[in-house]
Amino acid sequence: MSIDQLAETAQAMVAPGKGIIAIDESNNTIKKRFDGVGIECTEDNRRAYRQMLLTTPGLNEHISGAILYDETLRQKSSDGVPFTQIMMAKGIIPGIKVDKGPQPLAGFPGEVVTEGLDGLRERLKEYAQLGARFAKWRAVINIGEDIPSGTCIEANSHMLARYAALCQEAGIVPMVEPEVLMDGDHDIDICYEVTEVTLRSLFAALYDQNVMLEGTILKASMVVSGKSCPDQAGVEEVAELTMRCLKSTVPATLPGIVFLSGGQSDFDATAHLNAMNQLGAKPWPLSFSYGRAMQSAALKLWSADLVGKVAEAQQTVFARARDNGLAALGEWRPAA
Ligand code: 13P
Repeated sequence: MSIDQLAETAQAMVAPGKGIIAIDESNNTIKKRFDGVGIECTEDNRRAYRQMLLTTPGLNEHISGAILYDETLRQKSSDGVPFTQIMMAKGIIPGIKVDKGPQPLAGFPGEVVTEGLDGLRERLKEYAQLGARFAKWRAVINIGEDIPSGTCIEANSHMLARYAALCQEAGIVPMVEPEVLMDGDHDIDICYEVTEVTLRSLFAALYDQNVMLEGTILKASMVVSGKSCPDQAGVEEVAELTMRCLKSTVPATLPGIVFLSGGQSDFDATAHLNAMNQLGAKPWPLSFSYGRAMQSAALKLWSADLVGKVAEAQQTVFARARDNGLAALGEWRPAA
């Protein structure tokens, strides 16, 4: 796979007015989401839920790609059509989560490092054969008393960069996701500092590992106040600080940046993205790769009657895709 093909995929992922739906929850994470709405976490319920999401009418108008979990990449719709085939027929690019999740970082209490490099080269080969054209690896940076440490940031950047190099070798676009968590009572300036150091470290590591930025997508967390900080920054401040932080750390050669929603409300996730896209010229398209902020409302509806509420749930998915697609253009207006 040439760099041109990787670049083409990366650019298609952030096509104007389009973003990504993240439906790559591991079986443990989707169980937590299902528990929240009283649904049993069986393979068939997971399949039916993902089928509801992926067959949303008109989804491809605002969605360029979907990140799947290993199990989902191999699943088929109730009438036997592989999910990847349904996606490709609609021009929705299949992506795959390849990390094995965060584990405690030995010697650094309260910090984690994401694992999953062992055997990744072979797994990527298989994922490419199954139709995946991009991948995701999420690193988690916690903010707290005396954390994050430089060691934690560097260990995660190193893993992200080695993952990214392996993806490109397999012809898969790496989405690199260093998530600075919103948990904590820190203010927005602390989040800014941690995000800045994290992104500097990540791009240095990508450079060291010969990763081609033209064929890479950054999945970033926004610069926000800690969830339990008494002083919550407003939409304009979040947009301005996030943009400033990204502009000072992310090379212009990157084809695009997408955001995670990280526990923000649906409204905030859309409003923040919209406000950033209204701030004027920027070196890269800014779009979304939301999980919860794309799915929460639909999950609630669907769970009320797994079969009877499919159409209603899909209308919600479509509405979230449309709103976030407009926000990716800076053209979203909140409902009056
Ligand atoms: P959230 O938007 O729910 O944070 O999920 C996005 C994601 O894929 C995290 O890795």
